[in-house]
Amino acid sequence: MQGAPVNWKMMSRSLILGIESSCDETAAAVVERGARTLSSVVASQIGTHARYGGVVPELASREHLRNIVPVVRTALGVAGVGLGDLDAVAVTAGPGLAGALLVGITYAKALAFARDLPVIAVNHLEGHIHAVLLHERQEEKNSQDEQSLALVASGGHTHLYLAQPAHGTWTYRLIGRTLDDAAGEAYDKVAKLLGLGYPGGPWIDALAQFGDPHGVPFSFAQIKTKAHLAGKPPRTKAAKTAPIAELDPHFLFSFSGIKTAVLRYVELNGMRAGVKERIATMLAGARPPKTREEALALAPQGVLDLVASFQHAVVGDLLKKTFAAAETLGAKRVMVTGGVAANRELRRRFLEEGARRGVRTGFPTLALSTDNAAMIAAAAWPRFVAGEWAESALTADPSLALGR
Ligand code: KG4
Ligand code: ZN
Repeated sequence: MQGAPVNWKMMSRSLILGIESSCDETAAAVVERGARTLSSVVASQIGTHARYGGVVPELASREHLRNIVPVVRTALGVAGVGLGDLDAVAVTAGPGLAGALLVGITYAKALAFARDLPVIAVNHLEGHIHAVLLHERQEEKNSQDEQSLALVASGGHTHLYLAQPAHGTWTYRLIGRTLDDAAGEAYDKVAKLLGLGYPGGPWIDALAQFGDPHGVPFSFAQIKTKAHLAGKPPRTKAAKTAPIAELDPHFLFSFSGIKTAVLRYVELNGMRAGVKERIATMLAGARPPKTREEALALAPQGVLDLVASFQHAVVGDLLKKTFAAAETLGAKRVMVTGGVAANRELRRRFLEEGARRGVRTGFPTLALSTDNAAMIAAAAWPRFVAGEWAESALTADPSLALGR
């Protein structure tokens, strides 16, 4: 729905309340003019899902219902604003879990109706991209918008987009995607089979520092041009958000193979020992290890070498394809975002490669790498300026695609 374009320069603060509930975090944030985060509150459900080793959709919806009111209240309180100070409510419309999305959408609509505020619908993946832009704007580094190659790597997505600034807003072209598991999903599955904590990324990130990244030779075969795959939707739930498109096979990902390779390696090398004990430790609320001694108390050197090698291979694959796509498309900037962008080895290697190639490489802050609502409010800002309000019939779209 098109409203009258907002003359935001005339307005006092232009505050957007962002709401995010697409997966297992209930989040709310207040962001001023898409550039200054006044508050960003995230209620994580990790404790609820950890014992199942993955997100249980029904439990996620129930937790969102419990958390949404206090989370929004806290976000307003931390920002020091009241409902009357808001100019719009932005909410994640998809992709994500239907029941989870609906909690945020219904709450946003009710709040907006009661306060006569516009609702702005935001694509979760665009939100992740705006987490990088928000960080840059806040740092006032070089917030000049330029054509960028964006890698969104999270528990549900591994997508490459060409992001182009266009008249104050952004357009997106899908360049690559995973054909099966998302990168974060591979981290989570490998961590689960080794008895490491949930979500797996932070544990593997922490343990990998103490292992040999060349201890186990994992490799990614080049994905062949398969006529039957090109133009078809990907095979798993994780990648359903991608539209059917002809994509260059050089920019396609596949992470289910390495997960199986890790499983086979574990079985062949009798590395199952200690899995139950590790799971018990995690459920007792242990935090990822910080020192070699703590890491070795948790897992033998062989497991540390295995996770270091797994991570080295995954990061290498993400890096190779992202920079190849940037070069092919002439993008002078790379943005990496989504939960996996919190990874230390990934940040180090992407920054090194960017410097080597003269490609500006940016990430969100660590807190904004994983799901949050500040990125949703930031992504809504150009829409707010253009007066692009959601229809009153707005509902959850679990496989909402970004770009064409
Ligand atoms: O963006 P996000 O919070 O939720 C989705 O939209 O999926 O991403 C969560 C994913 C999980 O798979 C988690 O294991 C991964 O991000 N992750 C990491 C790290 N922190 C979170 N992966 C690698 N290294 C990390 N430090
Ligand atoms: Zn996400």
